[in-house]
Amino acid sequence: MKAVEVIGGYPLNGEIKIQGSKNGILPVLAACILQKGVCILHNCPDIRDVRETLAILRELGVKCEMIKHTITIDTTGIQAKAIEKEKTEKMRSSLLFLGALLARFGEGFLGKAGGCNIGKRPIDMHMEAFQKMGILIEEQENAIAAKGRLKGADITLRIPSVGATENIMIAAALAEGVTVIYNAAREPEIIELANFLKKMGAEIYGEGSAAIIISGVKKLHGVEYNIMPDRIVAGTYLLGAVATRGKIRLHQVNHEHLGAVKVILKQMGAVIQEMPDGIYVNGEAAWRTVEKVKTEPYPGFPTDLQSVLLSTLTVAKGESCLYENIFENRYRTVAELRKMGADISVEDNILRIRGVDALYGCEVQGQELRGFAALVIAGLAAEGRTRIENKDYVERGYENIVRDLLGLGAKII
Ligand code: EPZ
Repeated sequence: MKAVEVIGGYPLNGEIKIQGSKNGILPVLAACILQKGVCILHNCPDIRDVRETLAILRELGVKCEMIKHTITIDTTGIQAKAIEKEKTEKMRSSLLFLGALLARFGEGFLGKAGGCNIGKRPIDMHMEAFQKMGILIEEQENAIAAKGRLKGADITLRIPSVGATENIMIAAALAEGVTVIYNAAREPEIIELANFLKKMGAEIYGEGSAAIIISGVKKLHGVEYNIMPDRIVAGTYLLGAVATRGKIRLHQVNHEHLGAVKVILKQMGAVIQEMPDGIYVNGEAAWRTVEKVKTEPYPGFPTDLQSVLLSTLTVAKGESCLYENIFENRYRTVAELRKMGADISVEDNILRIRGVDALYGCEVQGQELRGFAALVIAGLAAEGRTRIENKDYVERGYENIVRDLLGLGAKII
């Protein structure tokens, strides 16, 4: 497998533009099949998960073309076909095609969705919601068969699930009647999907709050749309500036999406300046710890930056405590960081970190997407050379982490 190599000990220093959002575009790509025509998407990240999703669309007979960061999708020739396991098992977001196929054809056959190994990742809330909307679901060993005519329903989510909220919004857009989602996810990606669907002609209210109302319409039409910047990629590099005591400027960043991250950066001693389209962070004096931080649904601190923050805290001066409240197995990077000299203990979902004077470069294994990025950040802060194996993981969500960090002055290949 490919690897990334880093020579640590150099403060990040430079400025780059942030890519389009992985978790913003994936539901939008699935939602494109709700209309019979052409959608043109701009600022699309050229990442593995997007390429895999385009492969699923082509499997359905949809014409897809990606030129630089623009994707053109023509669904005129779409057929209601099964999407086999080898296509769906690579990522969790393939599950969103179920809502889209049900809305478009009244049926869907989908191989079991995959995704990062950060927990069990059940799909009970997706299934329960579709059943409430009048769908017959047959869960087979490696696939799901669903059939029926979608009707609006009141759905209360046990957890404000991002994916379940998105799947229900996509299905409800063309359902008969009104659907209300209570305890809905409030992430920026939910608002992105609602903006896209509304531009297509959907009737949606309340997105971004805990209650979303979708009044089903008869037909949706093709649109041109700009994908929002990736808040997790931006947060990764901002934390990298703190870990290396550097100074960086990021362009094409939505400040609002980084609220909880900015709180932590300031607690650690970073100085932040916001510009109309970007953000500047000076991490030269950012060596303080954070007594207690919890990952939470938005607007709380995002679970997708938990591992990256963990790396950053391993070289803070003092003790920190990080609670992972979203996924039950998002600790696989701890063992790799310990190989570099980090002092971390795990007790249930609590990570206790005692800052060390230095991490030491060595060979480590990336275990999943965000954990891989966290090891790169640790390598930037470490003394000597760090080799992070299994680069395929990070290519799922970062367009080119080596190019980005070279642009920020890192010594990386
Ligand atoms: C989305 O995953 C993101 N993925 C994840 O990002 C992100 O970590 C997560 O939301 C939380 O913000 C995409 O958008 C493609 P959930 P999703 O449903 O939708 C449990 C990354 O690195 N749950 O909000 O799968 C679930 O197990 C990825 O970019 C059920 O129990 O997350 C988890 O504990 C990783 N039953 C919690 O809810 C269900 O039916 C939140 O999961 C659904 C979820």
